[in-house]
Amino acid sequence: MGKVLKDAVFTAVRRAQEAKKKFGVDKVIDATLGSLYDEEGNMVTLDSVWDVYNTIPNFQKAKYASDLQGNLDFREAVKTWLGLKEAFVVATPGGSGAVSITFRNSVDQGDKVLLPDICWSPYLVMAREQGIEVDYYQMFSGDSFNLESFKEKSIEIMNEQGKLLVVINDPAHNPTGYSMSSSEWVEVMEFLNSLADKGKITLLNDVAYIDFTKKKETSRNHFKLFDNLHPNLLVSVAFSISKTFTAYGLRVGGAVILGEEKEEFKNSCVHSARSVWSNVNNSGMVLFSDIINDSEKLNRYVVEKEKYVKMLADRSNLFIKEAQEVGLKTYPHKEGFFVTINVDKKIKDKVFERLNEELIFTINLSSGPRVALCSVSLGKCKGLAKKIKNIINEF
Ligand SMILES: Cc1ncc(COP(=O)(O)O)c(C=O)c1O
Repeated sequence: MGKVLKDAVFTAVRRAQEAKKKFGVDKVIDATLGSLYDEEGNMVTLDSVWDVYNTIPNFQKAKYASDLQGNLDFREAVKTWLGLKEAFVVATPGGSGAVSITFRNSVDQGDKVLLPDICWSPYLVMAREQGIEVDYYQMFSGDSFNLESFKEKSIEIMNEQGKLLVVINDPAHNPTGYSMSSSEWVEVMEFLNSLADKGKITLLNDVAYIDFTKKKETSRNHFKLFDNLHPNLLVSVAFSISKTFTAYGLRVGGAVILGEEKEEFKNSCVHSARSVWSNVNNSGMVLFSDIINDSEKLNRYVVEKEKYVKMLADRSNLFIKEAQEVGLKTYPHKEGFFVTINVDKKIKDKVFERLNEELIFTINLSSGPRVALCSVSLGKCKGLAKKIKNIINEF
């Protein structure tokens, strides 16, 4: 009883859609949508992806996956794409599936998962669904990752329950667009490796946005730190083609598992998969391995995607530059789909309503309004920071 999903995103999206119908698309700034839209306001669909999809025979679309763990070609392609050759992969419906089975197999009911205090809200839904409690580390100290809070809360929970499940959504964190520096990653991993003396740890690294960072070459650098893990430390990298291929509806992703106990963990993840969704969309897996394993197709994809990475980077650079000029405070932002405005909690809801009145639609998160740069054209990004700042100044 009383188990009802409240999803702030879908409600806000509906409001924005209604405003567009009433006032016309040009007058409305719809910064609610977490999917990538081009400068003309159309959802980005990559020809280099869908042209390949259209060559997939019907039987591949109709059939079950070849393996409950996910097709072998797909699992190998995920490892190649991420550069995580030693991992075990379990195919999942999107990154959501990977997060969910990692929660399920890392802690017991009644235990806690440690989340960043600013985070993607479905983590909470997944925890609640599985009888897992949540606790938070503070994500920022000034403009940096809050290592102190991360360490303090990790130690506290390890002492309390003798094991730890902790989430880091990096690079291009949702909803702030923060990416940790290499030295922050080094410190996190040194710390977790030493804390693992006390008990088992799962680090869930959610990389949903890894392919929309400003620099493709450095986006995977921190994976090197997963090479030498303490025997008690397991890493599950939650990968998804939702953003990587802008193929959200195909529902394909994977839990990429590293560490001494990876085989045991993989086995329990496959068990979880069988009990909830059975197997993953076959044509989506075929699509991914077809592209990754063919240098011509891969090159075409990378070139096309990079065009959109640049489009997104231009929006982010402009918004942040203007925010600094007008003194609009955002949470630390480097790249990615979103930026979140840092506004006093007391006026946050009023600001959100006033933004709506001015036909600016965002998501009203507990940390502040989230602006989806992925769905706002450069033209509409121009001047947006000032409009938001003016509204905050009213209170
Ligand atoms: C932080 C984060 N993790 C994971 C996901 C998973 O998405 P999907 O299940 O579509 O791959 C999303 C999607 O919005 C996200 O924002």
